[in-house]
Amino acid sequence: MMKKEKLIIFDTTLRDGEQCPGASLEASEKLEIARQLERLGVDVIEAGFPIASPGDFEAVRMIAHEIRKPTICGLARATEKDIERASLAVKPARRGRIHVFIATSPIHMKYKLRKAESEILRIAGEAVRYAKKFVDDVEFSPEDAARSKPEFLFRVIERAIAAGATTINIPDTVGYTTPIEFGELIRAIRENVPNIDRAVISVHCHNDLGLAVANSLAAVLHGARQVECTVNGIGERAGNASLEEIVMGIRTRKDVYPVTTDINTREIVKSSRLVSSLTGLVVQPNKAVVGANAFRHESGIHQDGILKRRVTYEIMNPVEVGYGDSKLVLGKHSGRHAFTERLKKLGFHLSQQQTERTFDAFKKLADKKKEVFDGDLAAILEGEIAKVPQIYELDYVHTTSGTGTIPTATIRLKNKGKILQDASSGDGPVDACYRTIDRITGLKGKLLDYSLRAITGGKDAQGEVTLRVQFEEEILTGRGTSTDIIEASAKAYLSAINKHLHEPTLKRQGAHRKGLL
Ligand code: KIV
Ligand code: ZN
Repeated sequence: MMKKEKLIIFDTTLRDGEQCPGASLEASEKLEIARQLERLGVDVIEAGFPIASPGDFEAVRMIAHEIRKPTICGLARATEKDIERASLAVKPARRGRIHVFIATSPIHMKYKLRKAESEILRIAGEAVRYAKKFVDDVEFSPEDAARSKPEFLFRVIERAIAAGATTINIPDTVGYTTPIEFGELIRAIRENVPNIDRAVISVHCHNDLGLAVANSLAAVLHGARQVECTVNGIGERAGNASLEEIVMGIRTRKDVYPVTTDINTREIVKSSRLVSSLTGLVVQPNKAVVGANAFRHESGIHQDGILKRRVTYEIMNPVEVGYGDSKLVLGKHSGRHAFTERLKKLGFHLSQQQTERTFDAFKKLADKKKEVFDGDLAAILEGEIAKVPQIYELDYVHTTSGTGTIPTATIRLKNKGKILQDASSGDGPVDACYRTIDRITGLKGKLLDYSLRAITGGKDAQGEVTLRVQFEEEILTGRGTSTDIIEASAKAYLSAINKHLHEPTLKRQGAHRKGLL
């Protein structure tokens, strides 16, 4: 059998993924995702766009400092300032990469950059040469490549490689291309760029027409050996190619694709959950590979088939992507030892202090809920590992509501050792809670999105509330879990408030990235 070539998995969850409206992340949350991406086995982490904001810069630097296995990449426009900032951010990395981009399509050159082809050619070459002064590993992207004139594209690519680019990334920036057309473009690049053998061809596809994964895989068939993708397919507008779909597509159809990846597929579900809960972007139930329904069989005929032989209706084994059995793991009589052993099995390694706090949270949960499942533990842990300081903490919540009653909430919060209490009415019990919290904190939040899901099955399942809320200019996500959905709602709102009050000077991407890309 022919030996398979390696496909480089370039994860841009923390850069393009975070450009998804409302998906802003704290530096500590980005670091936590980067740790998980390392466990997942990605080759390159695009950790951010360092010039975009002090927060982005710090996050890339922290990740470059701690994460050792993958290459850490910072994005830069083709300007000296951007490149210097990116180089400084990735400097602590064991392997650092600078990713330089400039648009090459007639539309972008004319309306956005107001530059002629000759200027773009010159800037591309100079920018790559400048980046090479700082790192050996330079990636170049002709932005909006899929809508660029092929002849011009070939010349820009040739110039970038001559200047030292080691990866040439072909973005379908607006998700416009089709699999056949994009595959042909990659073939044409291989045939028409004389020095193409000196660089890896990469692709970066957006999902505006739902074709990001199909276009990326078509490119792989025509010689691309790096794919840029994000966990859960999050990203600008309709998102980017989804990492889990690319990886499982290649693994499931070994007969079709001449490549393999180094991804530890059993970490996929955990990565998906972590990204979803920290960004507040809920995964649609019918999402391939990681959606709640991806391995559920409703029809009797299908269930019968599965019971007789799994392969009748399942082309992937759920265990392979990290779905465990929804096992009963612990109960209220379980001790600390059983608890820490279970955490280790789940792949979480916590400090002594974190273990103490999560053990307390587990005990409280076990008091309310007879059976504590892996999913419940993961929810507690996700809240713990990327925790921002609890500036306001929920101490007590009581609501009244019902037909013909005015919904009201009484809330007590802890703040710097003080107890603050107030009450308010609202359009419903959740609204009453949020109005009361606003009265106590003096903030005024505008709720943009609110979703509730059950973490595990059963009537006593924990509810997880994920929301997006706007405070002045800033849009934040919040998440809260509890067996009581009103308490979960209040916790989610408070977690967004605590993020807002934490690091107020490092404004998040929403305010800073605007106008840069
Ligand atoms: O979509 C795009 O073109 C990008 C580039 C910066 C690579 O994200
Ligand atoms: Zn993009």
